[in-house]
Amino acid sequence: MRAFVTGGAGFIGSHLTDRLLAEGWEVVVYDDFSTGYEVFLGGARAHDAFHLVRGDVLDAAKLTPAMEGADLVCHLQANADVRGGPLAPRRDLEQNVGATFNVLSAMRENLVPRILFSSSAAVYGEPSVFPTPESAEAVQTSVYGASKLAGEAFIQAFGEYDEIRSYIFRFVSFIGERYTHGVVFDFVKKLRANPRELEVLGDGRQKKSYLHVADGVQGMMTALSKAGARANVFNLGHDDCLNVLAVADLVCEEMGLSGVRYRTTGGTRGWKGDAPFVHLDTTRLRSLGWAPTIPIEDGIRATTRYLLAHPDLLERR
Ligand SMILES: NC(=O)c1ccc[n+]([C@@H]2O[C@H](COP(=O)([O-])OP(=O)(O)OC[C@H]3O[C@@H](n4cnc5c(N)ncnc54)[C@H](O)[C@@H]3O)[C@@H](O)[C@H]2O)c1
Repeated sequence: MRAFVTGGAGFIGSHLTDRLLAEGWEVVVYDDFSTGYEVFLGGARAHDAFHLVRGDVLDAAKLTPAMEGADLVCHLQANADVRGGPLAPRRDLEQNVGATFNVLSAMRENLVPRILFSSSAAVYGEPSVFPTPESAEAVQTSVYGASKLAGEAFIQAFGEYDEIRSYIFRFVSFIGERYTHGVVFDFVKKLRANPRELEVLGDGRQKKSYLHVADGVQGMMTALSKAGARANVFNLGHDDCLNVLAVADLVCEEMGLSGVRYRTTGGTRGWKGDAPFVHLDTTRLRSLGWAPTIPIEDGIRATTRYLLAHPDLLERR
């Protein structure tokens, strides 16, 4: 079986690639390395069944032939920068909606029967029900969330036309090895520059669920092997949540820092489109036998240690 992984050189995509290879899949990673790294594919390169195509998902002439022979597309490529939305909304339209459309068009040409898609908890905007189930009604609060919801909609529509089975995952914030963006990254970077004071966006009380990437990949693999509907949608998150100040405390501890002064920027959100509370109901995926195994605190600590051991990643962004 051959999987075609867009964004396979990124944080989550490279872990999924490793797992697919370990399970005997042939894997083609398609990536332009805009936010992904060669070094993340170090383990994958050791497999004969691994192939890399350097290319832009927006380049349909390159994407379509590269996908030939795929049995499954894992579409993880995206602009994953949620915060930049207000200043650069077209980026989400092009890199998320347009790119997903290109992937679906290439699947149609190549008659690929299955797609796995990395959507986001951002599609719920600021929900009123917690933990938030997949059926929750939502008003969009970010172009990133809107672009992911549009991607889901296009996938389901092509799925009906072309009999494509879809596995859509609404991720909370992922943490773990190869993590390259998000709150832990920001904190470690800022604290390396100034270990006495830490700027915290918002009031620091934003409360979120985080999931270790190993648990996330296990969740995706569980659904791939067990979910039978044409259009499958799953929340993928942890049962626990942590507020931003608690994350800061863990990062400081792991960095061996004490007495750091937190300077909150105020307001209940870190930026326009930030959701103050993210907690997803994962009953649907749990009913297939999946459950997170790594406590959030352990994941935050491990992520901090990983970043400290890889200062080059901190410097590149
Ligand atoms: N990290 C999270 O916490 C999180 C949460 C919710 C959803 N997601 C989604 O999961 C997916 C993976 O996220 P990630 O954290 O691994 O991000 P990432 O930035 O590490 O990975 C994205 C990958 O896509 C590649 N890429 C970007 N634009 C491209 C293009 N036009 N053509 C070819 N390659 C391109 C990048 O080089 C990178 O390797 C994304 O779709 C993201 O929106 C991530």
